[in-house]
Amino acid sequence: MIRINKNFSNLKENYIFAEVNKKVRKFKESNKNAELIDLGIGDVVLPIVMPIVKVLEDSVKSISKKKTMHGYGPYEGYKWLRDVISKDYKNRTNFSDLSLKRGLSISIDPDEIFIGPGTKEDMGGILELFDNNQEVLIPDPVYPAYCDTSTIEGFKINFVNAIESENFLATPKKIKPNSSIIYICSPNNPTGAAYTREKLKLWVDFALNSGSVILFDGAYEAFVSEENIVRSIYEIPGSRRCAIEFRSFSKMAGFTGLRCSYVVIPRELKLNETHLIDLWKRRISFKTNGVSYLSQRAAESVYQEDTQLELEKNINYYKENFKTISKSLDSINLKYFGGKNSPYVWVKCSYNKSSWEFFDYLLEKLNIVVIPGCGFGENGEGYFRISCFVEHEKVNQVAEKIKSIF
Ligand code: MLT
Repeated sequence: MIRINKNFSNLKENYIFAEVNKKVRKFKESNKNAELIDLGIGDVVLPIVMPIVKVLEDSVKSISKKKTMHGYGPYEGYKWLRDVISKDYKNRTNFSDLSLKRGLSISIDPDEIFIGPGTKEDMGGILELFDNNQEVLIPDPVYPAYCDTSTIEGFKINFVNAIESENFLATPKKIKPNSSIIYICSPNNPTGAAYTREKLKLWVDFALNSGSVILFDGAYEAFVSEENIVRSIYEIPGSRRCAIEFRSFSKMAGFTGLRCSYVVIPRELKLNETHLIDLWKRRISFKTNGVSYLSQRAAESVYQEDTQLELEKNINYYKENFKTISKSLDSINLKYFGGKNSPYVWVKCSYNKSSWEFFDYLLEKLNIVVIPGCGFGENGEGYFRISCFVEHEKVNQVAEKIKSIF
């Protein structure tokens, strides 16, 4: 008889977001009138901004005509999209907010950029480039998809502590310099912690010295507001020889439903004499037929000045939520982290409650959904994550509820 992939049995029974959904569904079944406020999964609530909608409308019209229709696109994504992303690395100047105005002056050739359907898919797929008889280093706590994809591919996982006493930032200081595949997410999901250039340089130096490769998840880059926080790993000297960067339009431009992301693989990145960029090109040629023309046109328009101004308003809208949440947590003396450079607030459970106990309490007593920290790794136990992707009215209600009960 055919056997299943035995690595499935090494996965946890449920992915945390699926487990939360299950619990919420069950709660709703027996509490039909309860109006839940969802601060759980980090999914945007604001609609696609008008300049992008206009481009989408025009693109729909163009594919409806024989002369301008589009079939399969290039595996690596349309050149016009890769060109504007490359320009954005070089010099982002459209944001009116001064803190975001800094151009990164990073040279990324458009041919080093690959358009994909989402960072989750890209970061999982990249593991296919490596022999699985090697170690993957994963900070704990962290976005759980890294663990599940590494497990299913049969890699050995070693966790690196990213705990409160270290501001939730994993460092390579206590690690033997073995060559490894290293996942880093900054600004971090779930803790909101974000690397300064100085701190991230430790990882880049470690990778260069040990022959490791860093997989840098920058999905939340648009939320960086402090000057000393890295927006791209390529701000760090030497990183082109050891790092792959992943970015997404999901949180930056509200594309969680549209889907579009990109991966940067610098030409210099090679293992022995093999350039990883060549392996990725080979892989995508048989794994995908690319991302839809419409999504890519929409993504291209993200870099127009009128779009950038609208997107900045949306990011600020979510950042306002952090202010409301932080005020109410301050008022009841709950300790929290993150929020400044990220849409996530990482809260410490009080009264010695576990993550799930706190989750249940918030769900049953306040009808608020959060994500239990233990779903992001052992070190997440005793914390829970709040998403700032929610409407202002709802976050105000949350603030009131929290004040009333504690
Ligand atoms: C999250 O809530 O952590 C994310 O939105 C989930 C995801 O990006 O897959």
